Amino acid sequence: MIPIQNQVTLLFPSKSSNEAFARTAAACFAAQLDPTLEELGDVKTAVSEAVTNAIVHAYPKELGVVTLRLRILEGGVFEVTVKDKGVGIPDVAKAREPLYTTGDDARSGMGFTIMESFMDALRVRSVPGKGTTVTMRKRFSPRPGGRG
Ligand SMILES: Nc1ncnc2c1ncn2[C@@H]1O[C@H](COP(=O)(O)OP(=O)(O)OP(=O)(O)O)[C@@H](O)[C@H]1O
Ligand SMILES: [Mg+2]
Repeated sequence: MIPIQNQVTLLFPSKSSNEAFARTAAACFAAQLDPTLEELGDVKTAVSEAVTNAIVHAYPKELGVVTLRLRILEGGVFEVTVKDKGVGIPDVAKAREPLYTTGDDARSGMGFTIMESFMDALRVRSVPGKGTTVTMRKRFSPRPGGRG
């Protein structure tokens, strides 16, 4: 376990308008680690994919709660957890495969693949009927002069 230096938790309904809020909020919180623009962009992309999944797939019939937890861990590690109490994923390994989707034509089945490539680590825990928790970590590059 890496010690936690700072954290914030946000709860919001699974409305598509909250996707932009979530990715911007994650970038704002990550800013205190003095990331590069590229690192910030990577985090925003990964958060966008995870939150979009909670909005689109977790609650197909009605709105539900999405929890976004942001943590700064020792050593410049940024951790993002996106949690829902929605339908869950019956086969997580299959869902993580590139191009696998249960969505409509608008979905390409690349969300988990994108999260994996833009972050250093991705963990997906899901229980059908109970919900899904996606945890991602990224270590930001050391900056000259260190982080205050
Ligand atoms: N939070 C979630 N709740 C329920 N099912 C999910 C959740 N996240 C992902 N899934 C399932 O995993 C599949 C793969 O997700 P992934 O993000 O890789 O692709 P996608 O969302 O279908 O397409 P894309 O992200 O490219 O638009 C989804 O089609 C869906 O079946
Ligand atoms: Mg997706």
